[in-house]
Amino acid sequence: MTALLIDGKAAAQALRERVARAASELRQERGVTPGLAVVLVGDDPASQVYVRNKARQTLDAGMASFEHRLPADVPATTLMQLVAELNADPAVHGILVQLPLPSQIDAEAVLRAIDPAKDVDGFHPINVGLLAVGQPRFVPCTPLGCSLLLKAQRPDLAGLHAVVIGRSNIVGKPMAQLLLAEHCTVTIAHSKTRDLPAVVCQADIVIAAVGRPGMVRGNWLRPGAIVIDVGINRIAADTASGNRLVGDVNFDEALQVAAAITPVPGGVGPMTIACLLLNTLRAAAWATQWALPEAVR
Ligand SMILES: NC(=O)c1ccc[n+]([C@@H]2O[C@H](COP(=O)([O-])OP(=O)(O)OC[C@H]3O[C@@H](n4cnc5c(N)ncnc54)[C@H](OP(=O)(O)O)[C@@H]3O)[C@@H](O)[C@H]2O)c1
Repeated sequence: MTALLIDGKAAAQALRERVARAASELRQERGVTPGLAVVLVGDDPASQVYVRNKARQTLDAGMASFEHRLPADVPATTLMQLVAELNADPAVHGILVQLPLPSQIDAEAVLRAIDPAKDVDGFHPINVGLLAVGQPRFVPCTPLGCSLLLKAQRPDLAGLHAVVIGRSNIVGKPMAQLLLAEHCTVTIAHSKTRDLPAVVCQADIVIAAVGRPGMVRGNWLRPGAIVIDVGINRIAADTASGNRLVGDVNFDEALQVAAAITPVPGGVGPMTIACLLLNTLRAAAWATQWALPEAVR
């Protein structure tokens, strides 16, 4: 068997186009432009790249982008003051504080300070709770992207056994909630799970969100499984650039066993920012009590 490649780039582009069309309708009907504020503290190179990409794609979707850069040694009170100003700014519908934050800042306190109605990352405890009780408002962007890719592949997931490897608040836990809402039987595995290969081989759906290059081997997979590889790991390569990105799944091995698989790069990654734009559109729609078009519901 050679697995079907799930094209996250194409899916993300299609989603961004749907979001851009809806944003344009919102502007025409209500005179409102969805606005996303991104706060970057410090000069972490990877975060700078993410923030630049987010700003570009926000503008490309016809939305307003507000970027706030603060030095790495900024006092926590200054950051909190900025969050309070963004909470109060009617032009800002979504707020994202880029993680990780420097050690002098309590990241949990900052996330809790964001107005839950503007929390487009879906990390505020209120939004986490709403997802847990089956009334999702803002769902974290990476698991939301995984779920959209999965459902495009297989619209009805009811009864399937999904194994989520990883239990972070950003990926693993919300992913498990989304799969449960789709009526999957869900197993969450983590670093203390005993005999992980034996757990994974029961899965119809495998979500790998670990951060260990190529950890999930082909012979762990049940033939015909759908594999969503969230991992982004930079490893040494023989190319001129000196390194390349790989996922948490041994791609070449999995290709021979799985029914469908997301590549790294070009799988889950592009969906994450597209889902951030979707959440920002939703925030603007709710703030103005505008009914979202079917295509972006
Ligand atoms: N595509 C995207 O847009 C995107 C977005 C976010 C993250 N990512 C990538 O996804 C990966 C996971 O991210 P994250 O933020 O969830 O990472 P994280 O917070 O470090 O969590 C990793 C999870 O993997 C588990 N784990 C570690 N070693 C394991 C092992 N040997 N066997 C089983 N489980 C193990 C950990 O278990 P414990 O809880 O027991 O420690 C933890 O729950 C990373 O590669 C990250 O770069 C990609």
